[in-house]
Amino acid sequence: MEYVSVEVNGHTRVTYTDPATPLAVFLREELELRGTKIGCGNGECGACTVIMDGRAVCSCLVPLGRTDGREIDTVESLGDPDDLHPIQRKLVERGAFQCGFCTPGVVMSLVALLRGNPNPTDAEMRIALQGNLCRCSGYVKLLEAIGEIVREGLHER
Ligand code: FES
Ligand code: FES
Repeated sequence: MEYVSVEVNGHTRVTYTDPATPLAVFLREELELRGTKIGCGNGECGACTVIMDGRAVCSCLVPLGRTDGREIDTVESLGDPDDLHPIQRKLVERGAFQCGFCTPGVVMSLVALLRGNPNPTDAEMRIALQGNLCRCSGYVKLLEAIGEIVREGLHER
């Protein structure tokens, strides 16, 4: 057991825990941030994607002990059902998803991409999202919606 101090969505969180606890489990169980999903639990599906120090990471693979002093953003940092982030609103409007399970991870990968590269090419978008699996293979609408997000500068809210 050890103390870990991590900033989550702008708030410092201190916990005394097994440092091997996956970040995804800490977010969901201790902080009750259940927007972050756990699918495979071994880094293959991307459902658990959050942003750590500016980079999209699979939070199921990050031991809590490695987050000490780091900044984490989860999907809850963006908006809520009554006040969606423009990226989220566009994805809903364009029918880019068929489920709520892969969605938070895709959104966080997309936000991480656009923070570092506001005008990604099609190839860069595909590479950024290659770790986020959609079992229904609904990638076409998603990529179309992302194209609109980029053209309309919606990530700059
Ligand atoms: Fe983390 Fe699948 S739950 S990659
Ligand atoms: Fe979520 Fe396909 S829309 S798995």
